[in-house]
Amino acid sequence: MTKVQYGWLIRSIHSWSANLMIFFAFVHMFSVAFLKAYRKPRELTWITGMLLLFVVMGFGFSGYLLPWNTLAFFATKVGTEIAGQVPIIGKPMMVFLRGGDEVTGATLTRFFGFHVAVLPGIVGVLIAVHLFLVQRLGMSVPPKTEVEWVKDPSARRDIKFFPNFALREMMAWYVAMGALGALAAIFPWDLGTKADLFGSAPAGIKPEWYFLFMFQTLKLIPSKVWFMDGEVLGVLGCGLAGLLWVLLPFFESEQPSRPRKWINGLVIFALVYVIGMSVYGFLAK
Ligand code: HEM
Repeated sequence: MTKVQYGWLIRSIHSWSANLMIFFAFVHMFSVAFLKAYRKPRELTWITGMLLLFVVMGFGFSGYLLPWNTLAFFATKVGTEIAGQVPIIGKPMMVFLRGGDEVTGATLTRFFGFHVAVLPGIVGVLIAVHLFLVQRLGMSVPPKTEVEWVKDPSARRDIKFFPNFALREMMAWYVAMGALGALAAIFPWDLGTKADLFGSAPAGIKPEWYFLFMFQTLKLIPSKVWFMDGEVLGVLGCGLAGLLWVLLPFFESEQPSRPRKWINGLVIFALVYVIGMSVYGFLAK
C-alpha cells in the first residue's frame, strides 16, 4: 500500500467512524426515549447523554472544516453565521468560533484545537460520568416489565456483566470494526477541492446530514415573521425545543404503572420530524 493509499484509508476510517458515532448516538437517544430509560433516578444519565450528543455533533462541525475544502469552508461560514443569529450572545460567539469576523486560517487553527484538545477533554469527562451513573444505577427496564417484577419478583432476569454481557459487547465490537473497515475501503471519503477564500459559495450549499433537519427548518421560515427576523425566530425555536427535550425526564410520571402517554407521542413526532426534515433537506435544491 502506498503512503497516499494509507493516508486515504486512515482518513476514510476517521470520517466513517465520526458519522457512525453521531448516527448511533441518535439511535441510542431514541431507543432510551422509547424505553423511557430516562425516568427517575436516571435523569442525570439522560442529561449527560444529551451533552454527549451536543459534543459529538461539535466534533462533526469542527472536524468537517479540517480538510479545508470548498464545501467545508462555506458550510462553516453558514453554520457560524447561524450561531451568530442568537440574540445578545450570538455575535461574540460567532467571533469566538471563527477567531475573527471572517472564516480564515485562524478559524482552521481554532477548530483544530477544538477537535483534538478541547472536545476530547469534555467528552472524556462526560462519558466517565455517564458510564459511572449507568454502573451505579444499573440498567433500567421498561415500565411494564418493572410493574411485572414488582408483582412477581421471580420473573426478574439478570445477567452477569462478566463474562456474559462483556462477551456479547465484544462480539458487537468485532462486527462494528469489520463493517467500519469495509466501508472505509470500499467507499473512501473524497478530499474535495481546496477552499478558495475569495471564491463564491457553491449553489445549494448544505451542512452535514446531522444538522440538515435544523437547517431545513430554518429555510422554511419566512425572512420576516410579524416584527421578528425569521432566522432569529427559528434559532430561538430550535433552542427552546432542544431545551425541552433535555428536560424530558422531568415531565415523566414517577409511577411506572402510569407512564405519560403524550410523551410517547412526542418521541414518535420528534423521530419522524428529524428523519422527515433530513430527507427533505437532502432532496431540496
Ligand atoms: C457518545 C455518546 C454516548 C455514549 C458513548 C453512551 C454510552 C452509554 C452506555 C454504554 C450505556 C449503558 C448501556 C446501554 O444502555 O446501551 C448508556 C446508557 C444510557 N444512556 Fe448513553 N451514551 C451516549 C449518549 C447518550 C445520549 C445522547 C443519551 C440521551 C439523550 C443517553 C442516555 C442514556 C441513558 C438514559 C442510559 C441509561 C439506560 C438504562 O439504564 O437503561 N446516552 N449510555
